[in-house]
Amino acid sequence: MRLDKYLAGQGFGTRSEVKKLIKSGAVCVNGDTIRDAGSHVGESELKNGLEVLVQGKEVSYRAHRYYMFYKPAGCLTATEDAKEKTVMDYLPFSASEKRKLFPVGRLDFDTEGLLLITDDGETAHRLLSPQKHVDKCYFAVVEGIVTEEDVEKFAGGLELSFRTMPAKLEILETDAEKNESRIEVTIQEGKYHQVKRMFGAVGKKVLYLKRIRMGNLRLDKALKPGEFRELSEDEVNHLTSTFTDASKN
Ligand code: URA
Repeated sequence: MRLDKYLAGQGFGTRSEVKKLIKSGAVCVNGDTIRDAGSHVGESELKNGLEVLVQGKEVSYRAHRYYMFYKPAGCLTATEDAKEKTVMDYLPFSASEKRKLFPVGRLDFDTEGLLLITDDGETAHRLLSPQKHVDKCYFAVVEGIVTEEDVEKFAGGLELSFRTMPAKLEILETDAEKNESRIEVTIQEGKYHQVKRMFGAVGKKVLYLKRIRMGNLRLDKALKPGEFRELSEDEVNHLTSTFTDASKN
């Protein structure tokens, strides 16, 4: 792969910005300053420890980027919008660094919680495909008293504009005085407003919704709404390998 393409892919700027960087002598490959943006670096050599330094700092090879974002309420799950703040506005990266990143799946404007942001289309597709049976687990506060009958209805699948797949509904707490319930629900699909519509189908209303887990990836308790962190190597390995087979999740 061309050196300028590689560095642009690692977030060092656009191809033309990176070309200038290389020409300025800021890039060293295995100890040699490289000024030719068109020179090549092999992907297997990169994976096996070829040393690339930019302005003296080592570039650690990564094929893709993965961020865990704690989406706050009050922003759109989109890459851009003319009016509303989007989840991408929370990432302090340059436009070229953000160019290939996108959120995996959609949380409603008022929904909070775990959102994966990546440039890995294949993994995103796998996480979202209902056929891959990847859990999406939500905590919710619901208006009304959720009952064991509701648990059974969720488990059996509900009739919305489509028949939902079996969902696991767990009642955490009910408060008769407030007429509210706290629940966790796990679904393996993610249609438009799905959790809210499922509760609507049993005559209840979701007052607060937060995604807390996707597959094995749990929302990090150290994150506050609006904060993000890069996934650890272990988390990336889980995402990109464990989920390749639906049944393993
Ligand atoms: N289900 C919903 O209703 N809303 C979300 O944001 C996510 C799941």
